[in-house]
Amino acid sequence: MHILTIIGTPHKGNTRAIVDLFLNEFKEEQNSFEEVILPRDMENFCYGCANCILRGEDKCPHYNKMTSIVEKIEKADLLILATPVFAMSCSSGLKTVLDHLAYRWLVHRPSKSMFHKVGLIVTTAAGSGIRDTNKLLKNNMFYWGIPKIYKYSVTAMQMQGNYNEYPHKDRIINKIKKKTAKIKKSLKNRKISFKMRLFFNIFKMTQKKGWNPIDAEYWKKQGWLDGKRPY
Ligand SMILES: Cc1cc2nc3c(=O)[nH]c(=O)nc-3n(C[C@H](O)[C@H](O)[C@H](O)COP(=O)(O)O)c2cc1C
Repeated sequence: MHILTIIGTPHKGNTRAIVDLFLNEFKEEQNSFEEVILPRDMENFCYGCANCILRGEDKCPHYNKMTSIVEKIEKADLLILATPVFAMSCSSGLKTVLDHLAYRWLVHRPSKSMFHKVGLIVTTAAGSGIRDTNKLLKNNMFYWGIPKIYKYSVTAMQMQGNYNEYPHKDRIINKIKKKTAKIKKSLKNRKISFKMRLFFNIFKMTQKKGWNPIDAEYWKKQGWLDGKRPY
């Protein structure tokens, strides 16, 4: 299995510690790992030109930087999105990557590979904002086409902490072990949910009318308008 972690902070704190606990659970097997660390690996904000959606992703002013991230995403079996909660949302580093990937939503030009991945969301917060942040990340993963998405969040109740100091450290490790077992099962037996099939078919109908020519052309080229499916 190839595991890509896109982590929304370079800070070696709570989020890093939780991600590492997950990665440790995958280390014994024949797995390979890659990471995108933000904002180090993508420091540009989306300018809102909408070139990616309307004219093609190669017309994005930040295409070169995003290409290397997209290539890593394409290769991954398990995609981890990890972020601390900042001002009730994900970090701006992670948000800019989400913005630059909006053209890959089901409503536009989803990549076939996404339908075969498993997702994991890791969030940490001092006290509040986890639910909204998880919802944001889950929506993005789902609309990229990922059918099975797991979540794990830790409320640290402190800043600048590390799970090593937490009184509930053992509980965290146990929960991560249990969640990892479920993730491994999903990776071995990948399924397309009813919801994903439904949404794919809804967006297929919208592409038949084709309000955005480049999207409609993409769907046609994939054969998705003629009965082929990405899963
Ligand atoms: C700029 C900033 C904004 C934050 N905003 C929130 C917030 O809205 N809600 C919350 O519960 N914690 C908030 N926190 C606390 C962090 O989410 C929390 O400490 C997190 O675990 C830090 O992760 P890290 O150790 O990986 O950096 C904020 C921290 C910073 C630095």
